[in-house]
Amino acid sequence: MRKWRCVICDYIHEGDTPPEACPICGVGPEQFVLLAEELPPKRWKCVICDYVHEGNEPPAVCPICGVGPEQFVLLEETATALTAQTVASATPETAEAALSTISCGLFVLTACCEGRANGQCVNTVFQLTSLPSKIAVCLHKQSLTHAFVQQCGAFTVSVLPRDDDGLAMVRHFGYQTGHKVEKCACLEMVPARNGCPIVKEAVSYFEAKVIPDKVVDVGSHTLFVADVTGGRVLRQAPALTYEYYQERKAAEKKKEAGK
Ligand SMILES: Cc1cc2nc3c(=O)[nH]c(=O)nc-3n(C[C@H](O)[C@H](O)[C@H](O)COP(=O)(O)O)c2cc1C
Repeated sequence: MRKWRCVICDYIHEGDTPPEACPICGVGPEQFVLLAEELPPKRWKCVICDYVHEGNEPPAVCPICGVGPEQFVLLEETATALTAQTVASATPETAEAALSTISCGLFVLTACCEGRANGQCVNTVFQLTSLPSKIAVCLHKQSLTHAFVQQCGAFTVSVLPRDDDGLAMVRHFGYQTGHKVEKCACLEMVPARNGCPIVKEAVSYFEAKVIPDKVVDVGSHTLFVADVTGGRVLRQAPALTYEYYQERKAAEKKKEAGK
């Protein structure tokens, strides 16, 4: 339960919101402050792998992808009433939390180069057009998969299932890099026609060919626009969403904290 202190008479009110009027001195809710110890921890998002850390500061090292604190952005998650004033005071920082409400899927994107296959977890795959179908994907420049896609101009996307198998694939392809480990060789995978392997657990897959003049440098990442050259639905099962992944991660964290 949250605690609110009346700044006029120090009355403490317990509730999700401050009272309409202080029962002691009669002032309105604007004279109440949320007690500091009751403030929820700040949430920081890794801009590389989307890992969310709770604490007053970002972590020294991202436990998932290993980047430093400069790669974390603060998620200001307080819901704000829609008024001319709150709109006028919005900043790129407050927009980070708004952006985190965009829903998206989770995928394994594979590419191969000089006989070696590699893959990474991505949430930035989206369809641009139909007939002919074009998709876009945004890859961090440091990932090995980025190097493979840039060099060979082709990739395959496996759509993950919304279950434990899908989450295991997120960990396998998203929490470790092909710069250090061989991620594809230890799994049972089937090559697509372009040679880039499909994850056996996939709900569906599609393969794509990068359009050379539609490769855009967007700073830390490269945006690749590609023609879809083939693909299939492999089974009738719900696809993994980023929201489900976050929910399951939060539940695991809670369970660990309760041990
Ligand atoms: C849930 C999740 C979503 C991710 N989405 C992306 C993404 O859209 N683009 C990207 O470049 N990296 C993304 N990553 C990070 C890569 O999967 C991660 O850095 C991976 O280790 C890179 O592997 P590689 O170096 O073998 O290519 C994501 C990671 C996770 C866990």
